[in-house]
Amino acid sequence: MKDAFGLPQSLLVLGGTSEIALATVRRLVARRTRTVWLAGRPSPGLDTAAEQLRGLGAEVRTVAFDALDPESHEAALGKVFAEGDIDLVLLAFGILGDQAHDEREPLNAVRVAQTNYTGAVSAGLVAARSLQAQGHGSLVVLSSVAGERARRANFIYGSSKAGLDAFAQGLGDALHGTGVHVMVVRPGFVRSRMTEGMAEAPLATTPEAVATAIELGLRRRSETVWVPGALRVVMSALRHLPRTVFRRLPV
Ligand SMILES: NC(=O)c1ccc[n+]([C@@H]2O[C@H](COP(=O)([O-])OP(=O)(O)OC[C@H]3O[C@@H](n4cnc5c(N)ncnc54)[C@H](OP(=O)(O)O)[C@@H]3O)[C@@H](O)[C@H]2O)c1
Repeated sequence: MKDAFGLPQSLLVLGGTSEIALATVRRLVARRTRTVWLAGRPSPGLDTAAEQLRGLGAEVRTVAFDALDPESHEAALGKVFAEGDIDLVLLAFGILGDQAHDEREPLNAVRVAQTNYTGAVSAGLVAARSLQAQGHGSLVVLSSVAGERARRANFIYGSSKAGLDAFAQGLGDALHGTGVHVMVVRPGFVRSRMTEGMAEAPLATTPEAVATAIELGLRRRSETVWVPGALRVVMSALRHLPRTVFRRLPV
């Protein structure tokens, strides 16, 4: 069960090798989390992540999970919830894709959409049902500022995150009053494996900063978290710019 400050004792990460997710888990293990499930595509990276968390004192198990195989989500998550209550599900999987390449190869673009959006619709609904059945818990969804307004430079990824964000908000409203809390996290540019080698955007941040914001959001039971917080104002302004102006911005 969560403590009086809303921090979890047990958690499940969907996308178990995500740098943002692992920074968050390390932070929560340093607080109160004891049981960690890392769900992801089996790989040496997943095993290493589990081993490192064990080194911090957590009891860690891995489970095979592929966002692109929604038919397997029920069984994968069912295995985890059958072992005991889960206080926090962190939906962290996602791919950035390669915009220029994916515009030329529509099937690659579809893969981005299926991973980030339809994979999350399936896993999110399965997780929500299990959390609702136990009567408590949080579902934290890693969305992105990229979903706030589609940019020329990455509208394939951006549109998948827009869909994910809208889905997670609606799910949060559907679960309001059930004891299950949904928190949408919108980071800007985060220095992680996903953005390695890319030119940094303004207000770039780190996985650790996202982890800090997630912890604070859990304590406050927030519904939306921007990282860094200043992006809320920036994006609110950008969102309302006329298309003709927005199109010319170097974003
Ligand atoms: N980095 C940023 O600038 C940024 C900004 C805003 C939002 N985000 C979002 O934050 C989340 C985590 O990103 P990150 O920066 O931590 O990147 P990351 O380290 O590259 O993590 C991405 C995760 O997604 C997993 N994944 C990809 N395809 C999958 C699939 N088909 N099935 C299961 N897992 C799959 C990867 O697993 P494998 O090890 O199997 O590849 C990895 O665990 C993503 O949703 C991302 O869109 C990132």
